[in-house]
Amino acid sequence: MSMYCGIIRRSTCCTLAIHDLESGPSMNIRKEFLPFSRPSIGEGEINKVVTCLKSGWITTGALCKEFEDSFCQLTTAGQAIALNSATAGMHLTLTALGIGKGDEVITPSMTFASTINMIALLGATPVFADIDYGTLNINADLIEEKITSKTKAIIPVHFAGAPADMEKINQIAQKYNLKVIEDAAHAVGTYYKGIHAGGFGHIAIFSFHPIKNITTGEGGMITLNDAVLEKKLRMLRFHGIERDAWKRYGKGGNPSYDIAQPGYKYNLPDMLAALGIVQLERLQEFNTRRSKLANLYLEGLKGISGIELPKLPGYDHTHAWHLFVIKNLTLARNEFMNKLAEYNIGYGLHFPAAHTLSYVREKFAATAGTLKETSRAADKILSLPLFPDMLEEDVQYVCSAIKEIMKHG
Ligand SMILES: Cc1ncc(COP(=O)(O)O)c(C=O)c1O
Repeated sequence: MSMYCGIIRRSTCCTLAIHDLESGPSMNIRKEFLPFSRPSIGEGEINKVVTCLKSGWITTGALCKEFEDSFCQLTTAGQAIALNSATAGMHLTLTALGIGKGDEVITPSMTFASTINMIALLGATPVFADIDYGTLNINADLIEEKITSKTKAIIPVHFAGAPADMEKINQIAQKYNLKVIEDAAHAVGTYYKGIHAGGFGHIAIFSFHPIKNITTGEGGMITLNDAVLEKKLRMLRFHGIERDAWKRYGKGGNPSYDIAQPGYKYNLPDMLAALGIVQLERLQEFNTRRSKLANLYLEGLKGISGIELPKLPGYDHTHAWHLFVIKNLTLARNEFMNKLAEYNIGYGLHFPAAHTLSYVREKFAATAGTLKETSRAADKILSLPLFPDMLEEDVQYVCSAIKEIMKHG
């Protein structure tokens, strides 16, 4: 079928035909679009969600608690708090730690904008530390020089599923009495020297957005080891009310409440936790598959002139392979994306460097710094399709397409 698709394109569009003859695809173009990511949802997930729907309780309740407990087991953290996004987790964490006006938070610029947004919305200042060009992870050796008397926290990102250098980061945090908030959005299944993300005694925040290693549709989880902070976060998660709805409306529950500090509405409903419980049971299966596909990419793209492959951290780790990010050294990214689209291949961008976003440039130019390696990588990066249901042939197809693009490009 894919062969016919290529032929039809050539025979029905004169411009395309000329273009194709000059520089377009000469291999057979797949008929079906290969998305950048797609969640893997099986009968187990569907059954669990349906059971929840039929149970009479669909918002935050026993399933959410079960999901939280499973996360404590995975990460070895003492507490876990399920939320409707990781962004909500960052908002609650920064708020609960009292971070606001006049405070500085150190983070890489190579991160999702949500972190910077939350820092900025609370009136604090993001201070960017440069990354390691190869791994795109924060360069722990460049954190200390960013610390001032205003610094309150460091937010490393376990980029693409490879852990940041937690030993070094922990040492710096201890020396200057700073909080560490692990951005573990990419890190379900990430281990640093045998310790899962979230297992270092700090706060960690995971994401269950549909492209993540496990999904709840939308969702997130804070893990921590601090029962006092846990209580505060749980209240902030739900209006500032001490008891969740299921405790107030259950048999013998007390529906009245008091609010000592106003909170938000960031709880994860049981319908979504149901999905998360089954997804988490499948984590090993998912990440084994991701790892296999990533290794096929590493092999298949090796030696292609103009393409740089992701580097692995030098320390002992388990990569969750949330993303497979390559760098194109010769083609402008727009051109590269257009070419991939011609081959029916999807892609992602992780990330537009945060220090280049309009409002960040306007508001925080003074603290942005030079960020040499971030800038060097930012224009070249592109994330290739990677998801558990992707086939080996799909990876081979992407590798062949990139080979062809780079030959003619
Ligand atoms: C590094 C990073 N941090 C935070 C987030 C925010 O996650 P969520 O969409 O669950 O709010 C994302 C989401 O893509 C991310 O990639």
